[in-house]
Amino acid sequence: MSYGTIIVLMGPPGAGKGTQAKRLAAGTGFVHVSTGDLLREAVRNQTPLGQESKAIMDRGELVPDALVSELVAEKLASGTPRGGILLDGYPRTLAQAEFLEGIRGPRPMAIGIEVDEEEVVRRLSGRRTCAGCDKIYNVYFSPPPQGACEECGCGEMVQRDDDKEEVIRQRLKVYRNQTAPLIDFYRDLGRYVAVDGSKRIDAVTAELEAALQERVG
Ligand code: AP5
Repeated sequence: MSYGTIIVLMGPPGAGKGTQAKRLAAGTGFVHVSTGDLLREAVRNQTPLGQESKAIMDRGELVPDALVSELVAEKLASGTPRGGILLDGYPRTLAQAEFLEGIRGPRPMAIGIEVDEEEVVRRLSGRRTCAGCDKIYNVYFSPPPQGACEECGCGEMVQRDDDKEEVIRQRLKVYRNQTAPLIDFYRDLGRYVAVDGSKRIDAVTAELEAALQERVG
C-alpha cells in the first residue's frame, strides 16, 4: 500500500471545488475524487446506491454517512496514490470527518475555498456541464466557446437537477448546519487553511497551488 497526502477541498456548493480540483489534478500528481461525481455516476447507472441517492440529492440533502463513507473507503482501499488525493465534497459531516481520521496514512489537510452565498447562487444557476467529458462551464462567467466544449467538441451542455434555485438554497442550508462546522474541526487540529474563492478562476488556482506548495511541498 502507498500513502500519499489527502487534501480535503472544502467550501459551500458552487465555491469552485470541482473546477479547481480538475485544474490542480491536471497540473500536479494529485488524483481528484468527488463524492458528488461518484454518486451522479451511480444514479446514471441505476445501481442500488444510485436509486437510493437520487431523490435525496434532488432535494439538496445529504446521502447517509454510511453509504458515502463506504464509497470513499472503496476508493482508498488500496492506499492513496503516491501523488496524493484531492477529496472534493467529502467529508461533509462530523461523522464522515471522524471516519476519514480513522483511515491509515498521513493525516488529511483541509483547504477551504471561501465565497459568499449570493455569489454561489449566481454561479450555480449559471453552471452547465459538458455531456461528453464533464468539463464545467458557466453561462455568465465562462461559457463554452461557440457553444461547443473546448476539450471534446461536444455541443451538448446539461444543467444539474439540483441547480434549481430552491434546491440551491436548501444545499446552502445543509452546508451551513452540517458541513461548515468542519472548518473548526480541522482548524482545531491545526490542519485548515482558507483561500479567497471570490477571485477569478485563475487567481484562485494560483492561491490553491501556493497553499499546496506550502503545506505539502
Ligand atoms: P456535490 O457534487 O459535491 O455538490 P456541491 O458540494 O454542492 O458542490 P458543487 O459541485 O455544486 O459546486 P463546486 O464547489 O464543485 O463548484 P463548481 O466548480 O462546479 O454534491 C451533490 C450532492 O451529492 C449533495 O447535495 C449531496 O446530496 C450528495 N453528496 C455528495 N457528497 C456527499 C457527502 N460527502 N455526503 C453526503 N451526501 C453527499 O463551480 C460552480 C460554477 O461556478 C461553475 O459554473 C463554474 O464554472 C463557476 N465558477 C467556479 N469558480 C468560479 C470563479 N472563481 N469565478 C466565477 N465562476 C466560477
